[in-house]
Amino acid sequence: MTSNTLPSNQLKLSAEQKYQDELQRLQEQDKGRKPQGWKLSAHAVRRFILGDATLDIQKKFYGDDALVDRALVTLMGNQGLMLVGEPGTAKSMLSELFSTAISGSSQYTVQGTAGTTEDHIKYSWNYALLLAEGPSEKSLIASPIFHAMRQGHIARFEEITRCPAEIQDVLVSLLSEKQMMIPEMGQDYSLYAQQGFNIIATANLRDRGVHEMSSALKRRFNFETVKPIQDRAFEIELVQLQLKQQLAELHSELQIKLPVIELLVTIFNELRTGQSLQGANLKTPDAVMSTAEAVNIAHAAGLQAIYLGDGVLRAENIAQQLLGVVFKDNPDDVKRLKYYIDTVAKERARQDSDWKAFYQAAREF
Ligand SMILES: Nc1ncnc2c1ncn2[C@@H]1O[C@H](COP(=O)(O)OP(=O)(O)OP(=O)(O)O)[C@@H](O)[C@H]1O
Ligand SMILES: [Mg+2]
Repeated sequence: MTSNTLPSNQLKLSAEQKYQDELQRLQEQDKGRKPQGWKLSAHAVRRFILGDATLDIQKKFYGDDALVDRALVTLMGNQGLMLVGEPGTAKSMLSELFSTAISGSSQYTVQGTAGTTEDHIKYSWNYALLLAEGPSEKSLIASPIFHAMRQGHIARFEEITRCPAEIQDVLVSLLSEKQMMIPEMGQDYSLYAQQGFNIIATANLRDRGVHEMSSALKRRFNFETVKPIQDRAFEIELVQLQLKQQLAELHSELQIKLPVIELLVTIFNELRTGQSLQGANLKTPDAVMSTAEAVNIAHAAGLQAIYLGDGVLRAENIAQQLLGVVFKDNPDDVKRLKYYIDTVAKERARQDSDWKAFYQAAREF
């Protein structure tokens, strides 16, 4: 359920709730030309996602400004936008931000699963009403994509490759014809998409092959690969920012030392790339070493420090969370992590007190 007032105990706020003030400021200042059906100009959408100090708009997506520009151009055109990439590279976040800024809502979303059916993409019926009154607008239950077409909004399709290919292909005609036939209501009864309608789909590269996409569908989308953040400084900034946001009010109770965040990001960076900062080769684990996972660890370590410690986020908290959060159940990964601890971390522990604390806690794994 959505509402305009912010429910204080809601676990996660939607982007439109979270950034209500920013969106309002952007709207008030927006003098740029708006594509038809858009709530903001492309310039303003860009500022919403990449930040703007003059309007106090926070930077939300780090590392690839050009991708945001290309995605905006795609969304203005006839093609859908397909965001692909490794897990935890902010594909879903980007699709939420784009749809919020462009349409004012991120809620027209289909979550792709093996059980997704054509009805979830198009429409179904309220059978009691259907029997009583026959097919009508009243007895029709619209899907999120149906709503988005009718209102000229962006619809989101999450994890599209989890759906069987024949179900994915329902999108082919929707994207090329921009209309949805409803034969039950009469041979020529159709829903025509309004200006502003488009689809942003996301797909995880690790799931590719679960259900490949047909070439007909691929042709209807422009693909953008979202890569893990390459720049260490960006990643450090992002982890700090997200940690503060995730802890919300608790944040004031936690003392965060920058070197500890740097240590966390370094560990992720080195294990992800298979190279230490000094150039030594490392074995990369199968586990996902994304920025999103680094934020999860920082969050878990922060909670541990607040509730079970003295309110200071320390390297040993990071060590303790690393195993459970990232190295879930793969014994080979645990060996790879041990190798990292016994070589890279051990060496650094000789000169650095945070690495020493990390090493001493991690050695016990
Ligand atoms: N380049 C980035 N800019 C901003 N946040 C990022 C970036 N890369 C990763 N993140 C982090 O990832 C989180 C969002 O992950 P999200 O769920 O959108 O990833 P995803 O790519 O959809 O993953 P999955 O494939 O598992 O669904 C953000 O909240 C943020 O912490
Ligand atoms: Mg996702």
